[in-house]
Amino acid sequence: MVALVGAGCTTVTGRMSTRNALGFTSVPPSLRDALTVPPEYDWQLLYPWGSPTGIAPNRMPAFAPDASNTAFEQAAQAGMHHDGMHFFPLEGRADRALLVMNHEYTDENLLHADGIKQWTADKVRKSLAAMGVSVIEIERTPEGAWRQVLPSRHARRVHGATPILISGPASGTPLMRTAANPAGDQVFGTFANCAMGVTPWGTYLTCEENFHGYFGGPKEAASKATAAQRRYGTVAGTQWVEYWRFDERFDLTRHPNESNRFGWVVEIDPFDPRATPVKRTALGRKRQESATCKLTADGRLAVYMGDDTRFEYIYKFVTHAKVQPGNDAAARAANREVLDEGTLYAARFDADGRGRWLELRHGAPGIDAAAGFADQAEVLIHSRLAADAVGATKMDRPEWIAVHPQSGEVYVTLTNNSQRGEPGRPAPDAANPRANNLYGGILRWREDAGDAAATAFAWDHFVLAGDPAKADAGTRYPRTDADFFGSPDGLHFDSGGLLWIQTDLSGQNIGQPNWATLGNNQMLCADPASGRIKRFLTGPNGCEITGCVVTPDRRTLFVNIQHPGETRDDGDAQPNSAWPDGGAVGSVRPRSATVVVRRKDGGIVGT
Ligand code: FEO
Ligand code: CA
Ligand code: CA
Repeated sequence: MVALVGAGCTTVTGRMSTRNALGFTSVPPSLRDALTVPPEYDWQLLYPWGSPTGIAPNRMPAFAPDASNTAFEQAAQAGMHHDGMHFFPLEGRADRALLVMNHEYTDENLLHADGIKQWTADKVRKSLAAMGVSVIEIERTPEGAWRQVLPSRHARRVHGATPILISGPASGTPLMRTAANPAGDQVFGTFANCAMGVTPWGTYLTCEENFHGYFGGPKEAASKATAAQRRYGTVAGTQWVEYWRFDERFDLTRHPNESNRFGWVVEIDPFDPRATPVKRTALGRKRQESATCKLTADGRLAVYMGDDTRFEYIYKFVTHAKVQPGNDAAARAANREVLDEGTLYAARFDADGRGRWLELRHGAPGIDAAAGFADQAEVLIHSRLAADAVGATKMDRPEWIAVHPQSGEVYVTLTNNSQRGEPGRPAPDAANPRANNLYGGILRWREDAGDAAATAFAWDHFVLAGDPAKADAGTRYPRTDADFFGSPDGLHFDSGGLLWIQTDLSGQNIGQPNWATLGNNQMLCADPASGRIKRFLTGPNGCEITGCVVTPDRRTLFVNIQHPGETRDDGDAQPNSAWPDGGAVGSVRPRSATVVVRRKDGGIVGT
């Protein structure tokens, strides 16, 4: 155990006067293999990896602690590495709902009984089945806890082999066609599902982030990669997994277009388990983080998106069509094509605190045929290259985006960027002000006239993270009274305007000054009105906290604990966690899980 120097609880200040005062006891940093919440709160385990999803009475395989579940069984169980999540009330009720969540990636050593010393076709199938999305039905018990409804006619797994439609301007175009799908309009699967969004008509948007790691090929073919493939990281020999040896669609040398069919926002109707999910190409292709929705003043939809790689961009998509009101089945049918036509922009943050949305329209200088873009489909498939051409601002890894429910201000986590200011890399700028930015921060903007359709905005930093005691690090922004945290990633506004912040302080911070005092990854709650930020929860060893939703009545908070035990050293070391099942570290497989957090007195969380 490392001593926790200078990073204890903060005290309540005289500024605390807002309705949303953070009344809970701040939790200290922790290096314990445990989930800790304030003493006024309880938590319960709801849906760990391997739990039956409940898709049919005769298809509810139990979790096998020795990882002997087959690929077929895994496709009917909770996937690995839970991430973005949303709570959809069922039939307008507060006590019954669909909980929909992403499963971002797999730890192959935990997933397979004998690890991955030897890949097989079965392991590829199981790995694909362990990613994607879960839809589970849940209900509140008379005591106020939550339990899964098993089986449920709504329950569903969408995973790495589920048939999915491709719609919008890039559907059917040459770069989307493959031998298996010459029409370029359908694909098997979604994976690398990170953050998310929710449409006003009640569908879930899952975002394909690090898809590149699953495509590969022989190292000798790396030199044949195109400029676009290099930019997206789909280069033979750099793959994370050996799918390409057992499933040829993942072989970049044989099927180079297959990877163009990933990196999208995918729309899922959680209320209809028979509805085919749809990849919406009008929103552009990137390492897609959130897809956060906000209605424009004239009733269209704006979708805010990040691209989580160092020096990548923030995007906005605005639909051409107006949204038909409602969030029932009729509204979902009426809005089925709304996300297929619109305008895609990338953000430029100017030094004077103003910003512009720069349109990515084929034919404009730099994104025309002379620059190598045949049409709008190519602008969308290679939206990173188009955003380069218009001069968008290279950001410090934009992750989640959240819109304040009352003010409409848009907040984005810029998680970190240790390469900012290195020789040959972009220098610090107004929006990304720190060289070697280890701790990240949260930036926000206000669209002109408060309209999400605006093409200009004003911006500032809500907080630059790090140790508030270290003035030299420039870590405190005026008005902010923050507990020590770093690498903000997950972000969620509840309906009362409290901002929930989750951290992903990963390997790059280890050994840096102060990393040990930050402890395990954590979740904080901020009151934007006062600027105050308090530590609410700390996670078990090796985990990331990501994915969070507060119920509409604000009495329950659902949180995802991702990859407990991950040691980040290429997979050979033993996991350093036994969470949540307990026992000696090394004797059990740690499991990502959804947990439920409530106040012991049943009150509003975060207040
Ligand atoms: Fe999956 Fe960028 O976090
Ligand atoms: Ca993330
Ligand atoms: Ca992250």
